[in-house]
Formats: sequence, C-alpha cells, structure tokens
Amino acid sequence: MKQLVLLVSIWIGFNQLFAQIPTTIPIETSQNALVLHIDKDNRVGVAYFGKKLRQNSEYEILAKSLKYNDNNAGIYNSIYTPSGSWNLVEPALEILHADGNTSSDLKLVSYSTQKIDENVSQTNILLRDPVYATEVTLSFKVYFKENVIEQWSSIKNQEKSGILLKKYASANLYFVAKDFYLHHYHGSWAKEMKPEDTKLTAGIKTLDSKLGTRANLYQPPTFMLSFDRQATEDEGKVLLGTLAWSGNFKIDFEKDSYDNLRLLAGINPHASEYSLTPNEEFRTPSFIYTYSENGQGEASRNMHDWARKYRILDGEGNRLTLLNNWEATYFDFDENKLTSLFKGAKDLGVDMFLLDDGWFANKYPRNGDTAGLGDWQENKKKLPNGIGYLVKEATKAGVKFGIWVEPEMVNPKSELYEKHLDWVIREPNRPEVYFRNQLPLDLANPEVQDFVFGVLDDLFTKNPELAFIKWDCNAVTYNAHSMYLERIKKPQTHLYVDYVKGLYSVLKRIRAKYPKIPMMLCSGGGGRVDYEALKYFTEFWVSDNTDPMERIFMQWEYSYYYPAIAQCNHITDWSKVGIKFRTDVAMMGKMGYDIVVNKLDEKELLFSQNALKNYANLKQTIWHGDMYRLVNPFENQMASVQFVSNKKDQAVMFNYLVDNRYDLNSLLSNTKLKGLDASKKYKIKEINVYPGTKSSINEETIYSGEYLMTIGINPNLSHRRTSVVLEINEVK
Ligand code: DGJ
Repeated sequence: MKQLVLLVSIWIGFNQLFAQIPTTIPIETSQNALVLHIDKDNRVGVAYFGKKLRQNSEYEILAKSLKYNDNNAGIYNSIYTPSGSWNLVEPALEILHADGNTSSDLKLVSYSTQKIDENVSQTNILLRDPVYATEVTLSFKVYFKENVIEQWSSIKNQEKSGILLKKYASANLYFVAKDFYLHHYHGSWAKEMKPEDTKLTAGIKTLDSKLGTRANLYQPPTFMLSFDRQATEDEGKVLLGTLAWSGNFKIDFEKDSYDNLRLLAGINPHASEYSLTPNEEFRTPSFIYTYSENGQGEASRNMHDWARKYRILDGEGNRLTLLNNWEATYFDFDENKLTSLFKGAKDLGVDMFLLDDGWFANKYPRNGDTAGLGDWQENKKKLPNGIGYLVKEATKAGVKFGIWVEPEMVNPKSELYEKHLDWVIREPNRPEVYFRNQLPLDLANPEVQDFVFGVLDDLFTKNPELAFIKWDCNAVTYNAHSMYLERIKKPQTHLYVDYVKGLYSVLKRIRAKYPKIPMMLCSGGGGRVDYEALKYFTEFWVSDNTDPMERIFMQWEYSYYYPAIAQCNHITDWSKVGIKFRTDVAMMGKMGYDIVVNKLDEKELLFSQNALKNYANLKQTIWHGDMYRLVNPFENQMASVQFVSNKKDQAVMFNYLVDNRYDLNSLLSNTKLKGLDASKKYKIKEINVYPGTKSSINEETIYSGEYLMTIGINPNLSHRRTSVVLEINEVK
C-alpha cells in the first residue's frame, strides 16, 4: 500500500513538473460515480457526479472539457474548499493559523484506494497547504453494491504551534444540473419530519441545528436533492443524504454563478471553533449519501440495505415486541401495579415489558418531571424490592424486562445536582434556563462519562437478565458552558463537539461490555436519530405522537432514511381511533404497545393477539425485505406501503384511508404492487380482520406477479374499511 501511495505521489510531482493535462480519480459504486479531477495546479475538484460510465477512461475527456473560466470560478467545484486565499464562496475549511493568518489553500499530495473486502473500499486523498504544514485527508468509503458513499475528512495540525479550526466540513460536493429541488424537514415535539419541497434559488439554503443535545428537534440532517426536476418515487435523479452526527450540524446548498450547486455538510461551526495542538488530528463525522436515477424509492432502498448490513446495531437480526407502561401509568405506579401489567403483556403475546420513567430517586422522588433525574437508585416507596424483584416477576409471568433511563440529564431538584454542580452544563453567571425542568450533564468531562457509563453498568451488573434499554434525552442545551473545559483551560467552543464525542465514548464502552443488549434511542420522540448513534442502538423512537393518522405521514418520511426494523411504532391511547387502525399502522415497523391490556374489551384483545401472530409471521419481511411506497398520502386520499421478502415469496401491503371526504373516487381504482417476481404466482389474503367483520377480498384467486404489478388490486378501502392489510404469498 505504501508503495502505491509513493508511486502516486511521485507521479503527481511529475505531472506538476511538466504541467501535464488534468487527470481524474473515479470513485465508483455499482451504478454511480463521483469523479474527481486534478487540475494543472494540483487542486482537486469534482468533475462529475452521476450514473457511471462503462469505460472509466472516458472521464478524462469529461475532465478536459470543464470550463470554469470566469474570474475565481476555478475553485467553485473544489472537493474541499479552503477559506481565504483566492476563494470567495462558502468554504469547507477555515483555519486560524498559529501566526494569525486566516488563509488556506489545499493541493494534492497523494491518493490511494484500499480494498476492505469484496464490497467495500476506501479512497483517501491527502491534501496539503503549500504555505502551512496543515494536512487534510478526505476519505470516501464506498459500499459498492448498495451504492452508498460515506465521506469524512481528517484535519491534522502539522504546524509548529496550535491552530484553530473555525470551519471543518465533512463533505464538499459539486453538482451540475438544470435545476435543483430540495426535499427537507422541519418540526417540533410530536410534529417530527414535516416535509417541505423547495426549488433552490441563487444564494445559500441552509439546514442546521444549534440545539446541542436533542439536536434534531426542529430539523434533522436528512434530505433528498433532485436534479433537473423533482424526483418521484420511481423516477428522476435524486441524492439522498444524511449527516451521521448527534449534535449541531450545518448543511449548505449554494448555487454558484454557473447555476451549479455546491454542497457543504458537517458539524455546525456556530460557537464551535476547535483548537488543535501540534500533531493533533480532528476527524469529522461521516456524511452518508446514495444516488439513484430511478427515483426516491430506489435511493431509500439503497440506504436501507446499507444501514441494515453496515450500520444499525444488529441491523440484520431480530427485535423484541414489547408493552411499555409510559402512557398506561405515567409516573403513577408502584410494584403491584407494575407486576399486574406483566400479565397483560403475556396475555397480549409480546416478548417484553418495558418500565418507563419514574422508577428512581428517593430524596427528591421522581413522581413527575420536575425532580429526581440524576439519582438512579430505585425509589424505595414505589419499588421496595428493587428492579431485581421486577425482573424476576416478569420472568415468572413469561416476559422479558427492559428499563428506561435518561442518563445524560439532571433535574436541579436532585442529589446529583447538589453534589456535582460542576458536572452540569450551565452558565455560572447567568440564571439557569430549563427545558422540561432539566439540564444536560457535561459529557465533555470524563468523570461525567464514567458516571453515565456507571448508570448502565450498575443496572446490568445488578440485573444481568435486563433485556432492553430505552435511552431518553429530553432537553436541548441552553447556556452552553462547561466547568470542566474551564478547569482544563480549553476553549468553551469545544463543548458542543466534545459533548457528542463524550457521548460516543460512553456508548462505545457500553457496547464493548454489553455488545448485544437492544437499546432504543429516544429523545422526547425523534429529537435525536442519526447514523452515528445507530451504531450503538438497535432502534429509535419515532415520535411521542402515536396518533395513527399522523404516524402514516411521519413514518412515510422517516422511511426514506431508516429501515422499518429501526422504527419503533407503539399502539397507544393517544388517539381514540379503533385499535385496528392503530395496530395496522404500528405494524409497518417495530411494533410495540403502550396501553393497559386489561382495559381492552374481548374483541380488542382477540384482535390484538391475532395481530401479534400475524406480525410474527410477517416481521422478517417487514424488517429485512424491500420497502415500496405505492400510494403517497401527501398526494392522494389513501396511503399504501408494501414490503417484499428477499426471495419474493411473501409480501405485505398496508393500505389506509387518509381523507374522510365524501368523494372517494380515487379509491375505486387499483393499486399496482411493486417488487414481486413477474413469473411467480401469488394468492392474497386480508389479515388483521376485526372480529365480527368479513373481508371483501377473494382469497382464492391466483394472480401472477406480472398481473399484480401491471393491473394491481383494489384493497377496497372505504369509510367502513379505513385500513386494510393484505398478505401476499407465493403459490408453489
Ligand atoms: C419522552 C419519551 O419520548 C416518552 O416515550 C417517555 O419515555 C417520556 N420521555 C418519559 O419521561
């Protein structure tokens, strides 16, 4: 490998010496290519992004034809745009050098590609400033079959004294198209993932978060970017991208004077200047993206395949169905009430009981959200026999036992706050500002990291049979100030970054000791989910809003980025809609319950028990199969989503009425299925039929896959049949 790097470096030197014509570095997946070119001054830019060519020598022709001749335009397509020097557009890198100079330039030193296995390879491109010794390595990890690229940068201070990173993007890409359309999101608690479509115009469009903890509450770092025209589910060119970082982010889309698009994605530089001592290296988070010329559906399936195989913890494994007590009891429970709920879990047929918030703290008991957070000892009044007793009782009742924690946070009314004020993120000389009556702990501080690790370690050590953790995080970061950074004389502007690094270091330790325990990532709903956190978590809580009508839309949008196996959908009493509708919607992911089982009437219980059996039969297809969005609820009176098993021998189609208006003409037409085998024969049966009602679907008809994908079928939605689940099985 070293030899290859050396050869390439020598060659680059030679090229420079004789002012050779530009050359290219193609980074290819099975379908696509990101082609970089090296210009006559040894600067690296993007020559091409899109469908790959069969003959990659032809990229040279393309690179030679690039004409960014206007004053200053030669840097627009830079693969990592330095600030100062001759750059006048949004930079990827901004450094305050040791001597006070603010300019940077980056030229190619060497590049190499390493094969990691049959499917994965990594190209590293080493750039150096010709004046200052600072080095930047750009890494592109290619997941060939899944068409996914994971990209990050590493900045190394090779100067004689400290430098300050003022901006340090993960990725800087360049796209050429007639127009660009951005599909992005906004939201808030219980209103996660509200989509918006924008045609990008001149100037910079920014998606960002400055919330610190719970960074995605108002906006997630996920988006789809269409080229030329707005891509649809099955047509059009689209890049689906996301930043793998559980903190502040900034993604800029800048149209340049050629009307081409510059993309810069990374940690939000807001209040986050980062100092590097000599020889220190900073690795930015990964920007992960996939590209498809066949619409958003294919792009999302690429991402799902990648995420299950390479990123989500146990992404190709199994998950537990569960009964959670949050909405059933809130803080009002004791040992007896809980053990009586275990029986409900068993009667229902779920795998596990999950004890939520409210089980801890004694001096300031956690009987509401105003006290106790931080004091992780069982509350003696509610649980005189401790968690151990509950675990045993659950096991006796025939279900596993899981528990809720929120270890990053503290209530000012707690013993932890009294003992360790220096562990709390707060401005010492300003009034405290609370979000849900609490404050984040300073995870930049290694003592706090030990404490957070200890909360989990202690629970597992005392209760080795604990089967599941729900990890919550309910506050944003106000008054971002670290007593620890003050003590060790590091700039306060490290806090947002070091907090997230501290969190990952705790999660790494937890996973080193407890590699397999399933953990749900929750943040007052979907206030924090990303592909770095999902290295440590098996699933995430989509939203506290479990109204199934809201969920159809929310889950639809989440599903572009995250596969069903990672999305926790619970059936709760948030909405008074019948249990069938609630169950059918929850089934499109990792299903769970948050109800009092013995309040269900006979039919509701019977329906739920059968639904869990149907789920057991279909869950492998839902979790590991391919997802197809058939009818978009944002544009139609219904929604329809389908999952197909890898062997194409089983599929399930979920259909919902989303518009209750009288005129339901569109429901009279068929819905075409997707992803089946045209030559296979299939039978269709309706499942989750409510006791006492009859299905209007003929179960005896045999269809070819071709028929179902060309003509389709009508699930017969109506005011009386507002949700219909169809199971499709191959007839052999
Ligand atoms: C917010 C979560 O989203 C809820 O599910 C629940 O766990 C509460 N926190 C508990 O405080």
